[in-house]
Amino acid sequence: MGKIADLMMTLEYGPSPENDDAVRGWLASHSSGFGHFIGGRFTKPGELFEVFDPAKGETIARVTQGARADVDAAVAAARNALPAWSGLPGDARARHLYALARHVQKRERFLSVLESIDNGKPIRETRDIDVPLVARHFYHHAGWASLVESEFPGYGPVGVCGQIIPWNFPLLMLGWKIAPALAAGNTVVLKPAEFTPLTALAFAEICIEAGLPPGVVNIVTGDGATGAAIVGHDDVDKIAFTGSTEVGRIIRRATAGTGKKLSLELGGKSPFVVFDDADLDSAVEGVVDAIWFNQGQVCCAGSRLLVAESVERKFIAKLRARMPMLTVGDPLDKSTDIGAIVAPVQLERIRRLVEAGRAEGADIYQSEVKLPARGCFYPPTLVSGVEPASLLAREEIFGPVLVTMTFRTPDEAVALANNTRYGLAASIWSENINRALEVAARIKAGVVWINSTNLFDAAAGFGGYRESGFGREGGREGMTEYLKANDPPRRSVAKTGKAVKLSAAPGPTPAAPGIDRTAKMYVGGKQARPDSGSSYSVLDPKGRSLGQAGLGNRKDIRNAVEAASKATGWGAATAHNRAQVLYYVAENLEARAAEFSERLRAMTGANAREARDEVDASIRRLFFYAGFADKYDGTVHSTQKRFVTLAMNEPWGVMGLVCPDEAPLLAFVSLTAPAIAMGNAVVVVPSSAHPLVATDFYSVLDTSDVPAGVVNIVTGEADALANTLAEHDGVDAMWHAGAADIAKAVEAASAGNLKATWTLGAGLDWRAAQGREFLRRSTQVKNIWTPYGE
Ligand code: NAI
Repeated sequence: MGKIADLMMTLEYGPSPENDDAVRGWLASHSSGFGHFIGGRFTKPGELFEVFDPAKGETIARVTQGARADVDAAVAAARNALPAWSGLPGDARARHLYALARHVQKRERFLSVLESIDNGKPIRETRDIDVPLVARHFYHHAGWASLVESEFPGYGPVGVCGQIIPWNFPLLMLGWKIAPALAAGNTVVLKPAEFTPLTALAFAEICIEAGLPPGVVNIVTGDGATGAAIVGHDDVDKIAFTGSTEVGRIIRRATAGTGKKLSLELGGKSPFVVFDDADLDSAVEGVVDAIWFNQGQVCCAGSRLLVAESVERKFIAKLRARMPMLTVGDPLDKSTDIGAIVAPVQLERIRRLVEAGRAEGADIYQSEVKLPARGCFYPPTLVSGVEPASLLAREEIFGPVLVTMTFRTPDEAVALANNTRYGLAASIWSENINRALEVAARIKAGVVWINSTNLFDAAAGFGGYRESGFGREGGREGMTEYLKANDPPRRSVAKTGKAVKLSAAPGPTPAAPGIDRTAKMYVGGKQARPDSGSSYSVLDPKGRSLGQAGLGNRKDIRNAVEAASKATGWGAATAHNRAQVLYYVAENLEARAAEFSERLRAMTGANAREARDEVDASIRRLFFYAGFADKYDGTVHSTQKRFVTLAMNEPWGVMGLVCPDEAPLLAFVSLTAPAIAMGNAVVVVPSSAHPLVATDFYSVLDTSDVPAGVVNIVTGEADALANTLAEHDGVDAMWHAGAADIAKAVEAASAGNLKATWTLGAGLDWRAAQGREFLRRSTQVKNIWTPYGE
């Protein structure tokens, strides 16, 4: 056969290398090392570390390790630039962002090649995905800069933002961080990952070229120690982090109690679910994109393949036939599908995990692909014979390794999909739209792709549930991460807690006999005695006993969380149903307004009018959230062609709410009503000093058709109970209104399961504590990408 006929038979591509002269020239011109980018100019190189090309194993640059002094200088530059930048009219900031987008586009080829060399990812991906998305992000956010004032009234920039990014999408993560921050009027100090700092430094040059005011963007290079210095800096107002869950936890603890706003985009072990009615050939291509895109070094990689048992053999056969066709090799070759792993240490980690999986009994299949003789390469790998609890089914491998399991029913598919501590993304393959949407709603993940995978767009939010972090990047949701709500007015801000001493000793005889009784707690729709068997005396302002309340402990919190987690029907009920129940609660509270006023008066010493005002305000608040229950809508984002991207507001699940001592009824209602209006079940710790108004409240709940377990009330020492709630892995989100030292402990303890926290502080004016912010904090956004058309 002739040569052309041979080629037709094998369909092999010849090499097609991208020209890298411009990038090599640029690197050569910086051979003495790169400094940081601070206050609009590059600093002199300091202590240098080496940056490698993982495909060739060669040093390509030397970059400065950021010291504390560098971070100080960068934060100072950002602080100096803040007033002028945030004071610019939105339109002017929009022009700057637009210029950045244009300049990224002008340097598209250069940036793509540099990214491929630095990270090892194929040029096909940097050229067609990473860099175009960076430009798209700046364009999209140029729009937000113009619109932010009108679209987010009552909000302003957070201030100086510290941003720490990983190595898997170096320039894209920079775009995701910097564009929204700048659009909202913030200034930034960004630290790229130590393996891949080069495109960030090229972006710094773009900032100069595009005429961005000095100090608005500052880039400090270095490793985790530099990152930690940014996180710990007193003059930083927000930390945005993308990276490992482990470091996310460290950052959560380090920022606890500092008042820094925080968003965390962490790891994942995302399910890729193939039903028996899926288009199997398309799903095979989906798998390729899900796990072999970017060498599997993708936080939302579909790394757990869940296939319907009835099609498993057929599907795996198709997948195995596809695997040898993937070309592994030179990232700069335009025909390469899988490039290099970012660094030897990451390659080692993948090898170690796969071997540990093999030792556990997993079947490892690797197609016979030719790997380059040198550099960090790993073949596409398919793992079967694993249990949900196996190492490889649990751990984020962050490499081209797919783990497969089977299921029989949709319920089993959902259970397997949710059997992970993460919740970043999911991909669902079925030709039955009803089934796909139902499963999308039931999988706990921040992004769900139907018959598609790994789609991103600046207009859609991206971010996780559970230990995949909190906060969203992109779209309207992402903008809110860089804005600060103007706080409700406060009377005073208490810095430290005034611990209420709880004692079982009764005070003198009550002034108003007849209301003395031991209030129970309320768990799972029933009155519950405290596990401790102990109660404490509730005193009036003159120290006279008003009765006893249960002294709740860990066990009571556990019981309450368990009861709340069983109340799943509430979140699934229609918003109209929930509204009706809230109206009914309001109606029943009104019927007993005189009694509640009297209780408040006796407990707090308020006069009759003040007490009645608090009850009336509580009734109005219930009406407000009943009214909002079916009006806090999601959005349809305008993303890509032939996709409807639904941003759905979903309840967290179980929320822990800790009330302050002030306004004991109004604060209780202000926290509980929005949380349950959005479909959460709650465990509420009422005011320690004035718990009786809350324990009276459960009889209102009982008569108002509130299902069992939706509201659970545990009385006792609020500070200790707050800690227990914060530590509990069954609590998905937590609000704390109280002293700063307890808020700090709550935030630190929340690092366990990375629950989202909202610390409202002490001394809030509860009459004003109402609005959309309470609803936003009661929900997390799930973006569901649904394709249409043939
Ligand atoms: P990492 O989480 O250590 O690094 C991410 C960024 O955080 C880098 O810029 C790093 O310098 C910085 N950093 C490290 N320690 C820090 C600290 N104490 N304070 C502040 N910043 C700190 O991730 P690494 O070590 O590069 O990768 C380890 C594993 O993490 C991977 O194998 C993968 O499983 C996971 N990972 C997940 C990512 C995601 O997007 N979800 C991205 C990168 C890694």
